[in-house]
Amino acid sequence: MSQVFDAIERSSRSELAALQLQRLKSTLDRVWHNVAPLRSKFERAGVRPEDLASLADLAKFPFTTKADLRDAYPFGLFAVPREKIVRLHASSGTTGKPTVVGYTQADVALWAGVMARSIFAAGGRPGDLLHNTYGYGLFTGGLGFHYGAERLGCTVIPMSGGQTEKQVQLIADFGPKIIACTPSYLLTLADGFAEQGIDPASTSLRLALAGGEPCTREMRAAIEARMSLHVMECYGLSEIIGPGVAMECFETKDGLTIWEDHFYPEIVDPSTGEVLPDGAFGELVLTTLTKEALPMIRYRTRDLTRLLPGTARPMRRLDKFAGRSDDMLIIRGVNVFPSQIEELILKSSVLAPHYVIEVTRPQHMDEVELRVEMLPEGDNESARSQAAAELQHHIKSYIGITARVRVVPTASIERSVGKARRVVDRR
Ligand code: DLL
Repeated sequence: MSQVFDAIERSSRSELAALQLQRLKSTLDRVWHNVAPLRSKFERAGVRPEDLASLADLAKFPFTTKADLRDAYPFGLFAVPREKIVRLHASSGTTGKPTVVGYTQADVALWAGVMARSIFAAGGRPGDLLHNTYGYGLFTGGLGFHYGAERLGCTVIPMSGGQTEKQVQLIADFGPKIIACTPSYLLTLADGFAEQGIDPASTSLRLALAGGEPCTREMRAAIEARMSLHVMECYGLSEIIGPGVAMECFETKDGLTIWEDHFYPEIVDPSTGEVLPDGAFGELVLTTLTKEALPMIRYRTRDLTRLLPGTARPMRRLDKFAGRSDDMLIIRGVNVFPSQIEELILKSSVLAPHYVIEVTRPQHMDEVELRVEMLPEGDNESARSQAAAELQHHIKSYIGITARVRVVPTASIERSVGKARRVVDRR
């Protein structure tokens, strides 16, 4: 095993399991005594913390969902008095109230620690310059990367999102090795460099710490080739801590190592909730093992993936995410993930990785319109209609749906400044 940031990354599976069991017991105890709404759920399910004798017993405990957080809005699931909370973050829900999360001093330190570990695992080192484009504010991305990079000893450029021209100028002037960025904003930045006459492959950037949204293998390969850097994937969610739950390790780059000493993963069947064995695809469910302010028991992430054995570390890996169960589009009865369409777009040599999928239901029937951009080279009317016909055909034969494909001129689709919005469902 190569260098690690924390000695625990070298622990054996059995050492890890013993630690997880001990931490799980104490988390369940703290929830039972301090979080009334979750205690009521335990009582209704007929379970008490003492019922956990082994890690497998966790399956007896009820799930926590986004609805539990919403019902307890804003502070009702905190396990410590509000005065002990030193930071709040929030993620915007699709409807209604945001989801509010809180951190104690110890949680902020824990978060900085797992983020420093993540950046190190991805190839970052003390002294590296790190340009952070994740939004600062209620979103966990900006401050999550900021504290982690400082903890590791990097020089952080706290740029936040937007202002692409200025980002391009600062990257050109300061020469950072690392950029922290959503995959879709990396595409926007690459265009920003090109617009200023700078070859995106010629910059100082060598590592992109990319997460916050899905990115297919094809999209990653396209970004890496265009920008001549390594895209290392990072995963996390506000309800659990923010970024820093799992990170790809530089030496293997084969999925995301989940920091199992702090976050306990299970994969369940999204419709029945039954726990599935390692290797099977399903919904990721996470339990925090060390968080103070907002301990989470079996939180339903809605993210679809599978657990794989460790490679770079004994800790297990998460496979690339196939999407979210609530992102899945049902088009005239066919289940479609936006990532399937993205893969087909990226396979084309004339299309650009900028697209929007719009779903409508004009006459009681679902209709899909896909708008996708042409690459600047060879962008003309007849090439566009030929590319549209080809993509429409591929979507029909590989995915099984009829989509109206419109190939539009270069730069006509709105660019991402953070998380991209690629699906518009108007049904
Ligand atoms: O997006 C935290 C984060 C920031 C992670 C920056 C990585 C980098 P939320 O806003 O709460 O938190 O959104 C969490 O984003 O449940 C996934 O659906 C999605 N997501 C995050 N990382 C990935 C990834 C942050 N690597 C939600 N691949 C999660 C696919 C991801 N989806």
